[in-house]
Amino acid sequence: MKIAPAVILLASALLVTAHPGPHTSIKRSEAELARRDLASSKCARHVGEMQHKRIEKRAEALTKRSNRFSSVTITTESPFYPRIQNETCILTPETTTGPYIWSKSQTLRQDMTEDQPGIPLILDIGVIDVNTCEPMRNVLVDLWHCNATGSYSSFTGRDPNTPFEQLLEELGLDLSRGSLDLHTDDTTFLRGMWPTDANGMMQMKTIVPGYYVERAIHIHVQVHQNWVLQANGTVKTGTTAETGQIFLAEDLSKYLMSYQPYFGHTEIERTTNDVDSIYSEASVNGWFPELAVIPIDGEEYSKGIIGYITIGVDPSRTAASSFN
Ligand SMILES: *[C@@H]1O[C@H](CO)[C@@H](O)[C@H](O)[C@H]1NC(C)=O
Ligand SMILES: *[C@@H]1O[C@H](CO)[C@@H](O)[C@H](O)[C@H]1NC(C)=O
Ligand SMILES: *[C@@H]1O[C@H](CO)[C@@H](O)[C@H](O)[C@H]1NC(C)=O
Repeated sequence: MKIAPAVILLASALLVTAHPGPHTSIKRSEAELARRDLASSKCARHVGEMQHKRIEKRAEALTKRSNRFSSVTITTESPFYPRIQNETCILTPETTTGPYIWSKSQTLRQDMTEDQPGIPLILDIGVIDVNTCEPMRNVLVDLWHCNATGSYSSFTGRDPNTPFEQLLEELGLDLSRGSLDLHTDDTTFLRGMWPTDANGMMQMKTIVPGYYVERAIHIHVQVHQNWVLQANGTVKTGTTAETGQIFLAEDLSKYLMSYQPYFGHTEIERTTNDVDSIYSEASVNGWFPELAVIPIDGEEYSKGIIGYITIGVDPSRTAASSFN
């Protein structure tokens, strides 16, 4: 698959089906929990090694670029390392995509910041097959999140501080009546997709998300196993879309949110990880869906961070994709 690095392309016109709202909690079956548990213990070493390699590789690159970054090499043995083996976000077909998925605005690129102000975030993502514990090559990692004050692109007409139930009521919409389309425009900020390389890794530049009503700070992720770049530059995704959400450590969120422009978001209280329903689902059986984070300059988190996460996908359990 050949892709020019700097091209900005819009995803093709795609259908979006109904998604449960942010409150919807999905009950995990015993079988699923057991399966995750097994995959968790089985792949722990592989995940640890893969993540360690990525951190070392980046530390090398940073050191090469400037001596100022030499302290970064030390961070391969930083306090984050002992936790590395389970910083893994497991995707499942059942996890909610939330109401702000909008595939028409998902763009093939490695920097999805556009003009959004905020603390720079470089996502360093590795994808593994939880059955074989092997890296997954050339799968499309699809990311989207809200801006520093809680708004999603393509939904900028929606108030991020209005509780979801109230929003639906105001719009006269009923979740049980099928498809839900809340989009208001075609802006594309903070939405991006990029395939994994030969080592099952990809990188995306963005900003640290802010927060909206009733949800902890999070980044949505889907992995598409079958995808093609079409002649007109749009991406057609195949039958597999597994879904998950990535979080920040609570103390880090608290610290970063004390800086502008996040600090200016005073209309609502930030929901913390411990009371977020999706966070608790994503954390069962030792899986740990938080980014392992180091400061880009090796010193100050508020100037920019690099976040590492390994994403686990079970290719044998695929959802019928909402993309066709
Ligand atoms: C986030 O997006 C909304 C909607 O476009 C905009 O009004 C707001 O200013 C943005 N936040 C920041 C911090 O730029
Ligand atoms: C791109 O090509 C595909 C396949 O031919 C087509 O379905 C789609 O509508 C096209 N999109 C645009 C934006 O031209
Ligand atoms: C995963 O990491 C978290 C945070 O360090 C820890 O509390 C938890 O016990 C770990 N789980 C396993 C299975 O190692």
